[in-house]
Amino acid sequence: MLILGNGSNVIFLENYHGIILLDRIYGISFREDRFFWYVHVNSGEVWSKLVYKCLKLNIFGLENLAMIPGRVGASVVQNIGAYGKELKDFCDYVDIVYFNNGSKIRLNNSDCKFNYRNSIFKQHLLNKCYVVSLGLKISKFWQPKLYCNLLKLNCVTPKNVYDAVCTIRKYKLPDYRFVGNVGSFFKNPVVSINRLIKLKNYFPDIVYYNLNKNKMIISAAWLIKYCGLKGYKFGTVSVYNKHALILINNGSAISRDVAKLACYIEKKVKNYFSILLELEVCLVNKYGIVKDFKTFLNEKY
Ligand code: EPU
Repeated sequence: MLILGNGSNVIFLENYHGIILLDRIYGISFREDRFFWYVHVNSGEVWSKLVYKCLKLNIFGLENLAMIPGRVGASVVQNIGAYGKELKDFCDYVDIVYFNNGSKIRLNNSDCKFNYRNSIFKQHLLNKCYVVSLGLKISKFWQPKLYCNLLKLNCVTPKNVYDAVCTIRKYKLPDYRFVGNVGSFFKNPVVSINRLIKLKNYFPDIVYYNLNKNKMIISAAWLIKYCGLKGYKFGTVSVYNKHALILINNGSAISRDVAKLACYIEKKVKNYFSILLELEVCLVNKYGIVKDFKTFLNEKY
């Protein structure tokens, strides 16, 4: 059984041979005390609508996460992030139901083992449970997180941050309703500080940022661009010309085409930088979720 929100971060390599449940568990409720807003939201709600609704209700904080496609359940699993904020920064608890016995339990933020685009739901709890609701705890003392282009804002208000994020996203990221894409196809690689220093000796312009005090994140888009692949057309699939981390369907691509281009990019990046790109997209074959394209390509070729 496979649970899908919107499927906007999923590629079906072939027809899935099981049952697919579309999560449409709706409902949002709000509570407050002197210092915080508490938002309880069910997993089938559309994430971007939740962000907009909060803004309209003067619940500020989620603006940097505007316009991320997908539903709330997936946002938890993925620990979605953008412009310096991640879901984990607001998560109070996550309610899950176990597949095997239907029991429902509540996990707190640390139980979820959130990490960069990762959580316990993609690791230890993969295929064991599904997320039914999320509790957000949002401070009433708004502090903007200004990052990259957001630093250029003249007047910093939640509404202006929200609008700026939407403008950047509309410019940089293709709309999946019109141009097939799954957003970032790869994760930004995480490396040690020592590794980064070595890389910087060879590639002084390399783009990176801090993940924590020991680890750095390198821009995968920059790596791909450096390999000369930004805008690269590979038959029916291309590397998007405005953002090298995004692969787009030129109209008639099938999963095999996407797999081939992705493997080509992985190989180029590995040869140039000795860095293995990890997929951000979720792949599904006929049996369920798979970690890479290997078995799929081996079976067919
Ligand atoms: N860059 C390039 N070439 C490009 C694009 C970007 O060199 O074609 C460099 C630029 O220097 C830029 C830096 O990479 O400043 C970072 O680019 P961007 O701000 O677009 O962020 P990203 O690290 O590429 C991540 C998320 C995006 C999220 C943005 C915004 C991942 C895998 N992706 O991308 O998430 O919207 O940050 O903060 O972490 C998604 O997950 O689908 C997604 C779109």
